[in-house]
Amino acid sequence: MCGIVGEVGNDQAVSLLIHGLKKLEYRGYDSAGIYVNDEHGQDYLIKTKGRIAELESKITDDVHGTIGIAHTRWATHGIPSAANAHPHVSADGRFYMVHNGVITNFKELKQEYLADVDFKSETDSEVVVQLVGKFADEGLSALEAFKKAISLLDAGSAYALLMIDRENPETLYVAKKKSPLLIGVCDGFNVVCSDAMAMLNVTHDFIELHDGEIVELRKNEIKIQDAQGNAVERKPFHVSQDASASEKGGYEHFMLKEIDEQPAVMRKLIQEYVNEDGTLKIDQELIDTIKASDRIYIVAAGTSYHAGLVGHELLEKFAKIPTEVHVASEFAYNRPLLAKKPFFIFLTQSGETADSRQVLNQMNELNYPSLTITNVPNSTLSREASFTLLLHAGPEIAVASTKAYTAQIAVEAILAKAIGMDNHDQAALDFDIRKELTKVANGMQELVDEKHKIEELAAKYLVKTRNAFYIGRAIDYDTAIEAALKLKEVSYIQTEGFAAGELKHGTIALIEEGTPVISIITDQAVAAHTRSNQEEVAARGANVISIVSESLAHSGDQIVLPEVHPLLTPLVAIIPAQLLAYYASEQRGYDVDKPRNLAKSVTVE
Ligand code: AGP
Repeated sequence: MCGIVGEVGNDQAVSLLIHGLKKLEYRGYDSAGIYVNDEHGQDYLIKTKGRIAELESKITDDVHGTIGIAHTRWATHGIPSAANAHPHVSADGRFYMVHNGVITNFKELKQEYLADVDFKSETDSEVVVQLVGKFADEGLSALEAFKKAISLLDAGSAYALLMIDRENPETLYVAKKKSPLLIGVCDGFNVVCSDAMAMLNVTHDFIELHDGEIVELRKNEIKIQDAQGNAVERKPFHVSQDASASEKGGYEHFMLKEIDEQPAVMRKLIQEYVNEDGTLKIDQELIDTIKASDRIYIVAAGTSYHAGLVGHELLEKFAKIPTEVHVASEFAYNRPLLAKKPFFIFLTQSGETADSRQVLNQMNELNYPSLTITNVPNSTLSREASFTLLLHAGPEIAVASTKAYTAQIAVEAILAKAIGMDNHDQAALDFDIRKELTKVANGMQELVDEKHKIEELAAKYLVKTRNAFYIGRAIDYDTAIEAALKLKEVSYIQTEGFAAGELKHGTIALIEEGTPVISIITDQAVAAHTRSNQEEVAARGANVISIVSESLAHSGDQIVLPEVHPLLTPLVAIIPAQLLAYYASEQRGYDVDKPRNLAKSVTVE
């Protein structure tokens, strides 16, 4: 998952591309590069290890161009280095290319076609530009060489490619398969980007590219052809989101801003999905299709998978349909025995996660119906599923997902209620979603307003520890798993989310003097048991922290949660956990928004 941008026809190529890269830095940030050409024989290639700021510092004032490509990398093949940074260049110095994705047969291609080429990098990506150079050298046109190189990439490969031919620098060659790529339509020039956010400062009109398509992009021409060479006409879609929505707005980090935005997102979802009379704005065809199924399969990755764990509780309670939750990367290659009439729900903030896409492709081939719940309209998983529901959470920039997680749970609750109401299910009819999500929003607000208490707890218990545990039972176990991911991915503290009742079956051996063990207690039915488990770890030296619902609180509990519906407690319990992660990372001096080794959208399997 890397970020790529390109432009043709604007004489401010450097500032346009660097601005765009910065908006995509969440997609990968271990190295970066840019190539610009002024179409009068002057061109510049600058690449560096490290962040985009590092690249920017190496761009001198004389560097300029009217066409260019740029790239920020999350390394897959080859260490982060200037040599492995994109753009890559053909051996004869004619073609410049950036790539997002993976070329799964790059070694075979090297052996078969490029044995005599002196490669400058360890990357899989460089193989593509070297193939183009080879085929052009054999007499093919730039376009034909580009198409021939792409035709050799095997089915497992994923790519978003931008290429410039320095001998004819008025055309940007573009190709896309599995990795996201959009054409931005501007006035007198055109742009390309991995995510619309990169170019909202110059356009709100984008053309999505579909797998297998190839584009010749010029300042006043957009020529799309499909994999068979047929011309494609596609109208742009409009992105209404304001460019400022992806700014920090006075916050030091996006993560804290996005944690604070969660009450507003709950209220936005009420507005988007709940009518004044309490009926829900959920497509009847979607309801009917789910009702016709005999089992729901929720498929997702990471935090979205954790939101699915809560969705499982909500759907079985209110929709009364047996529901399973699966990690996408496992389901894709180790599929369970499916029910006769399955329905698939894909939870995905980005709408581009390769692991989830792999499953959706498989289910589409089997003609099973599906719903994608996502934060990104027109994303790949949104387009390729039977139905879509949007999170309306606004851009989530921090790599650690917060508001998308709570929005996913809220949308699952709305969906479950809609199905239950259609069945005249009493539990669903009694579940007043407007009232309950309003209580959640108010509860979240109380918690974010008291974030300083969490900051103090992080300083006291987390800033120095090597490891930590979150424990819970039933729905609190679901929350504990997500809470653990938040802490580990931004603070690098080895953290496990654990079933409280399971600790004593082995893992309690890891409890030492001072090990932080954070209990989540909101479920009255199991509260006493979790308290016992707290005692067991405290007796072995653990530092016990309690995140507990008001009605179950004991004196001395550090974090007391406002009361909300029992099936919505993860929406409030996760807030202190998100804040603990944020402050632990900040107090340790780490880059909260861009943790090491991670990227926001994982578009490789
Ligand atoms: C969550 O904090 C992580 N950034 C990661 O686990 C993320 O949830 C996962 O990669 C899934 O992404 P998606 O929701 O965009 O599919």
